[in-house]
Amino acid sequence: MKVAVNASSLTKNFGPVKAISNLSIKIEEGQVYGLLGPNGSGKSTLMKIIVGLIRPDGGEISIFGLRPYERPLDVRRIIGYVPENPRLYDFLTAREYLEFVSDLYGLDKEGKRDRIGHFLDAFDLSGREDEMLSGYSQGMRQKVAIIGSLLHRPRLLIMDEPLNGLDPRSAKIVKDLLNRLSREGVTTIFSTHVLEIAQAICNRIAILYRGSLVSEGTMDELKARAGMKGSSLEDIFFMLTGGFDVRSVVEELSR
Ligand SMILES: Nc1ncnc2c1ncn2[C@@H]1O[C@H](COP(=O)(O)OP(=O)(O)O)[C@@H](O)[C@H]1O
Ligand SMILES: [Mg+2]
Repeated sequence: MKVAVNASSLTKNFGPVKAISNLSIKIEEGQVYGLLGPNGSGKSTLMKIIVGLIRPDGGEISIFGLRPYERPLDVRRIIGYVPENPRLYDFLTAREYLEFVSDLYGLDKEGKRDRIGHFLDAFDLSGREDEMLSGYSQGMRQKVAIIGSLLHRPRLLIMDEPLNGLDPRSAKIVKDLLNRLSREGVTTIFSTHVLEIAQAICNRIAILYRGSLVSEGTMDELKARAGMKGSSLEDIFFMLTGGFDVRSVVEELSR
């Protein structure tokens, strides 16, 4: 099995804030891999390091054997990235935006029309593609950003809280899509602070807290390790995100 992402002893500080501390993680090709953790735990920073937007202060990162900050173009060609709060161009229509993205990746004319049409259909945006993005709702923009990340058939998808703002139907479409892509060998890494979502979508999950990896494995492994057999994952999730003492939960999970 090929390794899609190999990170070892990554560190990234923002002034006094340790966004990522000595984090090592190996993600195999074809997985739908969840990064789970409360706000501020370092999920977005880790994703930006993987994409090559942030250079780590220490440690090593490679994407299919390539270092993102040494081979930025080669890495970006194989990655599709949906950032946390995607900024689209307000003055373009959805179709114009997606054609622009296709052109950046050098997709041919015919191919791009078909592919854009297909995805617009799948995400229930057909009929709205000639409206300006400025008039789109947050969920509609999120869908356009997701489509934009998929057009060039990336081998590795990095999606930062991609289900934010999506209605249940669209969330289901994304979920099924990631599943299908996984069967085709595409690797997806996506972040969420909602355990339920991670459980529903991911083969493996890494739990981050304050920049450190506190637990990693399949859902069953995480459950067993947390020693919370009696409680449901929802309970763990509730404690993680519900404003109770997060630290004790994380300590449980990391034992
Ligand atoms: N550009 C930045 N400048 C300063 N601090 C940052 C920056 N980006 C992230 N941080 C800090 O790093 C920590 C991790 O942030 P982030 O990776 O966004 O977490 P998450 O995505 O899990 O919510 C937080 O404390 C955040 O405030
Ligand atoms: Mg984030």
